[in-house]
Amino acid sequence: MNILVIGGAGYIGSHMVKMLIEHGHDVTVLDNLSTGHKDAIHPSAKFMFGDLANSHQLNQALMPGFDGVMHFASFIQVGESISHPGKYYRNNLSNTLNLLDEMVATGNKQLIFSSTAAIFGNPEYTPIDESHSCHPINPYGRTKLMVEQALADYDRAYGLRSISLRYFNAASATPDASIGERHDPETHLIPLVLHTAQGRREYIQVFGNDYDTPDGTCIRDYIHVDDLCTAHLLALNALASGALSNTYNLGNGQGFSVNEIIAEAKKITGRNISVHIAPRRPGDPARLIADSSKAFRELGWQPKHADIERIIEDAWRFELQQNPPQAFPSPLL
Ligand code: UFG
Repeated sequence: MNILVIGGAGYIGSHMVKMLIEHGHDVTVLDNLSTGHKDAIHPSAKFMFGDLANSHQLNQALMPGFDGVMHFASFIQVGESISHPGKYYRNNLSNTLNLLDEMVATGNKQLIFSSTAAIFGNPEYTPIDESHSCHPINPYGRTKLMVEQALADYDRAYGLRSISLRYFNAASATPDASIGERHDPETHLIPLVLHTAQGRREYIQVFGNDYDTPDGTCIRDYIHVDDLCTAHLLALNALASGALSNTYNLGNGQGFSVNEIIAEAKKITGRNISVHIAPRRPGDPARLIADSSKAFRELGWQPKHADIERIIEDAWRFELQQNPPQAFPSPLL
């Protein structure tokens, strides 16, 4: 198939591009390189510089017609979305509406949309299935939910079919360590813990140890980026075979606390990781765990790298490849 990947230079997008190419698809990447890295794009993909705010650029990019469009180009920091909501409403919502309008104008009618567990807010129960109510507690989650609602309306009005994939906590790196998580600034737990193990940071801050969880720290469902990408491939195939618009929660169904992640990282890296307890981070729900049985059942998805050891090991291999051990003096356990 001929696929347009918007945000294909970013963390999950670049893994998706690699997987699509390895499965024999033709890939065009549209990215403004605001947070992504050009060197993360697989060399066999065609690259177009472009911005979702620019309808003309979007129209040009979409004009050839694609079998599917994948949209990864969002801002993703919960905390920043609270302090700078306009940035999130503008890019994640308004720019996505530009994309939908140009897709309709150019006859591109199949979209895979990167949504998030943040649409649920503080869960009423876990694991969270697709029928769980959606009451996001931060602007990031609200923008993603609004796009999901817009997608349902665009389907009704124009027949634009979409599959929204609600990621729980995307993590790790491709097993060959060629690409991985490279946010700047990095805000995610697993890479920051590993940077601490490498001696690139002095300590890891634990944002709150007074949550209503067994050890007081937040619980998340970490999912290997390659497993996420496999779900996208299956969703793409489903749309190509005529599937109706749908939404799926993607996680492993297992939660790990911040303390458990740090302990596991100590074990895997064999390094000391200093911890500072810090205040709660605004916008963080205590516990997010996915019920992905709908994706198993309807898409035939099955995560292959569900072990937390495996998730942290692949992330660690990538960090070591990026910053070889001699670069940082790091304390052994
Ligand atoms: N955390 C720390 N210290 C840090 C960084 C994170 O204690 O230095 C904690 C957070 O408070 C949270 C957990 O580790 O409890 C995971 O935090 P991340 O920042 O790694 O991930 P989030 O759960 O905040 O966010 C991720 C994605 C979002 C998505 C969300 C769904 O980045 O895009 O999962 O919950 F919306």
